[in-house]
Formats: sequence, C-alpha cells, structure tokens
Amino acid sequence: MKCWIHASEIVTGEGIRKKDGIRPLDADMGRIPDGAIVVDTARAKNRIEWVGPTSKLPREYRRLPKKSHIDLEKKSLIMPGMIDAHTHTVFAGDRADEFARRAAGTTYEEIRKEGGGIQKTMRATREASPKSLLQKAISRVEEMSALGVRTVEIKTGYGLDLNSELKCLRVIQQLKKHFSRSAVKGRPEVEIIATYLGAHDVPPERTRAEYLEEILSGHLPFMVQKKLADHCDIFVDQGYFDVRDAEKLLGEAKRLGLGIKIHADELGNTEATAAAVRLGALSADHLLKISDAGIAALAKSQTVGVLLPGTAFYLRAPYAPARRLIDAGARVAIATDFNPGSCMCLSLPMMMTLGALYMGMSRAEIFAAVTYNAARALGISNRKGTLLPNESYDGVVLPIQKFEEMYYRFGWTGLSV
Ligand code: NIG
Ligand code: FE
Repeated sequence: MKCWIHASEIVTGEGIRKKDGIRPLDADMGRIPDGAIVVDTARAKNRIEWVGPTSKLPREYRRLPKKSHIDLEKKSLIMPGMIDAHTHTVFAGDRADEFARRAAGTTYEEIRKEGGGIQKTMRATREASPKSLLQKAISRVEEMSALGVRTVEIKTGYGLDLNSELKCLRVIQQLKKHFSRSAVKGRPEVEIIATYLGAHDVPPERTRAEYLEEILSGHLPFMVQKKLADHCDIFVDQGYFDVRDAEKLLGEAKRLGLGIKIHADELGNTEATAAAVRLGALSADHLLKISDAGIAALAKSQTVGVLLPGTAFYLRAPYAPARRLIDAGARVAIATDFNPGSCMCLSLPMMMTLGALYMGMSRAEIFAAVTYNAARALGISNRKGTLLPNESYDGVVLPIQKFEEMYYRFGWTGLSV
C-alpha cells in the first residue's frame, strides 16, 4: 500500500470522465486541494483505493506503517499521467538547414518539391541502424516523461519501404519493453503505443498506386501477423494521399483489428475529417483547415479531434479552430506531433501554452486534452485518463502547486521548481 498525503492538489478528472470528454468545465476537473490518494501496490495493476482531502483520509489508511506514507508537504501536485497521442519519435537525422530556410521564407511545400522534407528524413532513417534509432528514441521519451508524460503514441512513416518500416516498428517494440514496468527501476514507466504510418508519403521508387498496393498486400498483413502495430494512420493531404486511399487502407486495417487514425485537413482541406468519422476512426488529427461540415461531422461522432498547435506555430500557419470544435460538442485532445520537419519539440506543456494563448482553450479543456480525451484518441480511456477509486493508478507527482503552472511556465524543463 502506498499513500500520498498533503498533495498541493490532486486533479482527478472525475467530471470529465462523466461527460465523456465533451465541453469540459472547471467544475469537471475534480480538483482536491490538500489531497491524499491511496494505492494498493500489491495488486498487479496498482489499484486506487481512495482519493480525497488529506483531512478526510480514513483511519485505516492513517494507521498504515510510516514507510507507506509520502508527505508531499503541499509542494507537489498529483494528476493523471499525461498522454501524448501523436508523435513521430523514431527517426534519424535532422532538418535544421530546412528550418533556417523556412525561417527566411521558403515554404514547407517548396522544400518538399526539392526532395527535402519527409524524404530527407526517410533517407537518413533508412540508413540508420536499429540501435542508433533506439538510442535516440529512448532519450526523446525520457525527455517527454520528465515533464509528466506517461503514455506516448509513436508513428512510423520515415521508412516507406517494407524493411525500413518494419525496422522502425521493431524499434517501437523495443521501446515498449524498455519503458515497461518490469524493466523500469527507479525511472518512470511509460506506455508506448505503436502506430503504422507507412502511408506518410510516397517513396521515390514507387508510384502512389504501387505503394498503396504494396502496403495493402505486404506491409499490413505482415505487421498484423507479427503484432507490431496497435493502430494504422494515413497522411491525407493535397499532394500526398487522398480520401479514397484512406478508405481503402483504413477499411482494411480496421478489418484486421487495428485502430485507425487520419492526418486530416492539415496543409489544405480535403474533407478528410468527415472521412475519419465515416470510417469510425479513433481520431482525426491536425484539422488546421477543417471545414464547417467537418466540424459538424466530428461533433456528432465518437472520433476525437487531436490538435497539434506546435505545428501551426512552427509552420506559421493559422491554428486549428479549437473553440468552434469544442463548442460544437467535439472531443478535443492536444499532442506534440514531435517530428523533425513541422514540430521539432518534445514538450507537451509547451503545446498546452499554445492551446491556451492561441486556441482560446480553458484550463479544463486543456486538462481534458492531455488526459482523458488523449486516452480516448488512443482507445485506452477505459483504463487511463483519470484518477478515481478502483482504477489502476497511472498518476504523476509534479513539483508545482496548481495545474495551471504546467503551462504557465512555458518551455519549462521539469527539472526545477
Ligand atoms: O504531422 N503531416 C505529416 N507529417 C508530419 C510532418 C512530417 C515531416 O515534416 O517530417 C506532421 O506534420
Ligand atoms: Fe503528424
């Protein structure tokens, strides 16, 4: 048994779970000042026994041996471990030169036409050894977890041929092991979710139709058989894949038992969000250019809108219409989109700052966006996203006193108070 007492606050997310992530309000955050939480660590899944104000801690838990009590002296808070539901963490090389050119005015699309962009990272990733990819990815996940992230979704998509995509999926499997509970001693356990994004771009040696066919008949069945992927994603955008490609690929992925996702309406509008809804996707991600019809479709659906404000910031593009999405009744999550081209940033709290300042999101909406709604975008909200009795404990203790400090301190490293 483990019992944390005098947390400056515990943010449980109780009301957010009750509302299933829709239109979260301050009162839904479940904030308990001077909180305590009791976890039965003897059970395989670390069951939460009790959570509430320290002053109301039941006598049976007060009587626990001293070593089971951790007094946080109101210096730290406890909240559900944050969930980064959209990252491209496994890649080699960098695009610092392209960044400098973009900063001087060259566009992302112009760089792509010269053979840069995703293709540049693809060349570096194809050449990289699994070991070097793994080492880089481990330090990236460590950096994310230092800021309170306990679940990270990682997409492939820089291999773009069977062997290289499999190499990246196997690296993700090794990451799962590296950060799993049994492997972790004295460092935080981080759950890794693997998403196959072979359809991130068309490799230079294939036409789009050839590559899609190769994915459908080769990549997909093989990785499902080897259990290398949890979900399947596709980049639908002008000049990449289209909605019909998405219907073909994701229909098949779903049939094979994978969760499905779409990079939708990012660079241009292709009504990919409505397609995500029709296909029953877990999430439609980006949504910078979503139409009114896309907003209406998402609001009526079970599909989560995963917003990536770091990408809008880094590409100097208009932000996704978070306010209109939430007000219409859509569930909204926030993630980093960490990748070498459109968002070279590992900090989920930084994205929360952008959400507050440039997407007009309230504290409750931001909290839901990195906990319950992010869990929902990964299909794991039945076991993650809140801190309530009888749930399995996946909380973080952070050296701040109020949840808002998480993103008020923008660009913080998590190392000092
Ligand atoms: O999520 N949109 C597609 N993929 C990434 C960008 C990838 C890259 O530039 O390397 C994104 O923005
Ligand atoms: Fe992405």
